[in-house]
Amino acid sequence: MPVIVVVGGQWGDEGKGRVVDLLAQKAHLVARYSAANNAGHTVVNELGEFKLHLVPAGIFYPDKVCLIGNGVVIDPAVLLGEIEDLESRGVSVRGRLFLSDRAQVLMPWHPLIDQADEELRGKGAIGTTGRGVGPAFTDKVSRAGVRIADLLDKESLLQQLSFLVPYKNAVLEKLYGVKPLALDRVHAEYTDFGSRLAPFVTDTAELVEEAMARGDTVLLEGAQGALLDLDAGTYEYVTSSVPSSLAGGAAIGMGIGPTKIDFVLGVYKAYNTRVGNGPMPTELLDETGDLLREGGPRPEYGATTGRPRRCGWFDAVAARYTARINGVTAIALTRLDVLDQLPTLKICTAYRLDGGMTDSLPASGAALARAKPVYEELPGWQKDTSGVRRFQDLPENARAYVRRIEETMGAPAHLLSVGPEREQAIPIKPIL
Ligand code: GDP
Ligand code: IMO
Ligand code: MG
Repeated sequence: MPVIVVVGGQWGDEGKGRVVDLLAQKAHLVARYSAANNAGHTVVNELGEFKLHLVPAGIFYPDKVCLIGNGVVIDPAVLLGEIEDLESRGVSVRGRLFLSDRAQVLMPWHPLIDQADEELRGKGAIGTTGRGVGPAFTDKVSRAGVRIADLLDKESLLQQLSFLVPYKNAVLEKLYGVKPLALDRVHAEYTDFGSRLAPFVTDTAELVEEAMARGDTVLLEGAQGALLDLDAGTYEYVTSSVPSSLAGGAAIGMGIGPTKIDFVLGVYKAYNTRVGNGPMPTELLDETGDLLREGGPRPEYGATTGRPRRCGWFDAVAARYTARINGVTAIALTRLDVLDQLPTLKICTAYRLDGGMTDSLPASGAALARAKPVYEELPGWQKDTSGVRRFQDLPENARAYVRRIEETMGAPAHLLSVGPEREQAIPIKPIL
């Protein structure tokens, strides 16, 4: 039975939560392996709408095991709040949600530094989610982080904090002019978090290993999208996850070997969106952009911050690049229904740049900001697709649009999504 990684292929919010929720029906174990609560994964089901920030999207099936792997940064207050919210809405969590003892902890100075950094950057601000995620990953790599296992040992946590709190206070006060934090309060608060999280904490890598040995189907749920990746993305307007949310990061973020991964499903929207700042060659600042944002159910507003998403045509140059670096086996194309109203559609197949043409994504952010999209036009279908469940029942122009995206990307579409609800899907070829 396979290990499948589900990754975002654009700038995040492609519908990974929705796709994982659908595929989880046939999986045994679902796990998050990177990022933090900057992620917002929406799942719509019979219990209502859920925006998950840390808990994997398999949680709605009572028989599935859900893991948060070592690659994830945990804000304990957010995780405990999410667990409470799920339980209050009738979703069982205890005994089947587990958290890695090696995961890093988001500390109270991280959001303060994130927000103060953004202010210092001024016009060049990244447009972060302000949750402290960048500074938390920075501390991880600079070996000034706290891990979940540390929260469970009151004495050694005190020792760690006796160095970290004064160190971070010096940064907060001297660099940013922000009020310092009190060591005893941080220690008391985080020991309390430790005791409340203790029932969930374990070596999650062992649980995945055991599941794989049994032949269970394992779904690894990526966060963000490849264009936000620290190495591959539109640097410096990217996120800071280490390991990366790319498929290659899944093995590291779960503590399994890369040879264990059988299938990489790249999730792409049928057009492009981006929240936060940075270049986006196909962005539409006109009424078509507004239509993409507001048209169809579930308008384009950030699941974490509520910010309006920037919208534009499908960028096949970027999509081909992200399919390649993720080693995508197949794609899931979401929000196809949002295009239902449009008379004409465009796909960007190359960029015009500095007097020439290119079909690769420039590494330089400044060059990408100068790149002008070269479009191919396709006729729209102007019919409601939200009730379609078989590929052959889609309007001909919708099928042609999907086929053209597959060609330009060089990857086959195995799944289409035509609405936010679980059953609003069109399977094309098997994934599980
Ligand atoms: P994620 O971060 O990749 O999980 O995606 P988000 O949840 O942040 O954003 C995707 C949004 O699109 C959510 O509001 C989903 O409910 C919604 N959605 C997912 N698939 C579809 C679809 O096929 N059609 C429509 N109209 N909405 C969808
Ligand atoms: P999901 O998993 C969309 C963006 C932020 C900002 C940049 C850096 O829901 O797809 P950060 O707070 O991470 O330091 O912000 O990354 N960003 C996302 N955009 N979806 C996400 O996650 C994102 N996670 C981070 O908007 O541009
Ligand atoms: Mg999201």
